[in-house]
Amino acid sequence: MKIRNICCIGAGYVGGPTMAVIAQKNPNIDVYVVDMNVDKINAWNSKNLHNLPVYEPGLAKVVKEARGRNLFFSVDVNKYIDLADMIFISVNTPTKISGEGKGYAADLKYVEACSKQIAKVSKADKIIVEKSTVPVRTSEKIKQILRLNNSDVNFQILSNPEFLAEGTAMRDLEIPDRVLIGGDETKEGKKAIESLVKIYSSWVPKENILTTNLWSSELSKLTANAFLAQRISSINSLSEICEKTGADIEEVSKAIGMDSRIGSSFLKTSVGFGGSCFQKDILNLVYIARSEGLDKVADYWEQILVINAHQRDRFSKKIYDCIKKNNLEPRVLLLGWAFKKDTNDSRESAAIYVSDNLIKNGITIDIYDPKVNKDQVDFDLSYLNDNYNKSLVKFIKDPILNISNYNLIAIMTEWDEFKNYEWNKIYSKIKKPAFIFDGRNILEIKKLKKIGFNYIGLGRK
Ligand code: NAD
Ligand code: UGA
Repeated sequence: MKIRNICCIGAGYVGGPTMAVIAQKNPNIDVYVVDMNVDKINAWNSKNLHNLPVYEPGLAKVVKEARGRNLFFSVDVNKYIDLADMIFISVNTPTKISGEGKGYAADLKYVEACSKQIAKVSKADKIIVEKSTVPVRTSEKIKQILRLNNSDVNFQILSNPEFLAEGTAMRDLEIPDRVLIGGDETKEGKKAIESLVKIYSSWVPKENILTTNLWSSELSKLTANAFLAQRISSINSLSEICEKTGADIEEVSKAIGMDSRIGSSFLKTSVGFGGSCFQKDILNLVYIARSEGLDKVADYWEQILVINAHQRDRFSKKIYDCIKKNNLEPRVLLLGWAFKKDTNDSRESAAIYVSDNLIKNGITIDIYDPKVNKDQVDFDLSYLNDNYNKSLVKFIKDPILNISNYNLIAIMTEWDEFKNYEWNKIYSKIKKPAFIFDGRNILEIKKLKKIGFNYIGLGRK
């Protein structure tokens, strides 16, 4: 099928950037990104590119190039479903909070709602692409919904999971390690796969486009995230052994990573991984394993989350133990709220859990983040804890200006600006004794100690 019009349902962190790149690289295809969230679509359409709803380095430039040419954002979901030859479903698939599988299974209500809407509106044959991360065999469910609600139109279903990481999304989309496309092994299925391969091959070398059956594609996405998260929990668990034994986690990480069979990526100790996906995708994998009666397998993957929560808790404990031991004013400056640098996304950020722990221990927190605002902080903390008291949390615009208010600084996100601070100037103004809790191990210990700071990192002294 020749693809002239694409519709993407879901203008979020995946739908927006992914479609911007597809439109940029395929100027002969019109790409319509639709969402039911009016504010989000208005923000995508806003003249001032600083107001885009997603912050990603390099995104504004691509939007500027393609928007209005062959990239469009709209709330008119039905209109563009009807127009499109190919529809990407790129909606959220959060962990279920009620019903069967509560706390583990992925909630597919948004995917199912889109499928029904597509069936209802479509008058001509279409290719439906599952972009959202979903449990294995979801494509079967989508197929059923489409057939049940519209038997006049032929739908081909593809799975095309997204592997971009926030903060580096534009680079990841521009030069992906691989593009994965799963489809039916029928003649029509193969044709549909070819249509999507053609779109990606406008800029991705053919050898980096991997085609598989539908279920392999779905399961590969979940497991890729589980493997990445597993490495972080592995190194974080070792950081605690380092603290007991005197080994240095940065040295251990380097030594392990130089083994070419292991590799050096994703071996950076931290206060714990965040982001909207690692936790939910592992919970989903655990749920699938348990549903199949594979309890040992489920326990194995679940342990990744146990270590991640433990790392956040023990980091929080370091802070309140320090306050108690040194009889300090219970007040901490938290630098960073986003779950990693170069994004405005704070979903599941370790900072949320650490703050909640600190507040529960009577500690007042002041927060600074270059891209996240106070409303988001309040939303995140009240979502975690119904009893959240806004007045215990202050959001500050210039942390350095007010630095004389604090004895304790905790680095929660590895934003470059924190690395580049003039720490000697900060030391001259901060209350003494001065403590730095480096939740990302980004600062130079020797330099800080020489200045006079008490440095508390993870797995290194
Ligand atoms: P998001 O919450 O940022 O965006 C989802 C959007 O879908 C929202 O704007 C929501 O309003 C919209 N939506 C939901 N139902 C709708 C409907 N019926 N009609 C119209 N709009 C609807 O989510 P995201 O971070 O972009 O993630 C989307 C999917 O991609 C998830 O399955 C996620 O696991 C996966 N994923 C995310 C990332 C990432 O970095 N965020 C990376 C890879 C894969
Ligand atoms: C992750 C995957 O890397 C993407 O491939 C995937 O597409 C995406 O999830 C998804 O499915 O949503 P993302 O969560 O955006 O991407 O960012 P990562 O770079 O993976 O970082 C996740 C968390 O792990 C962050 O909190 C980061 O600080 C932390 N991390 C990462 C570490 O603590 N140590 C590391 O060595 C690497």
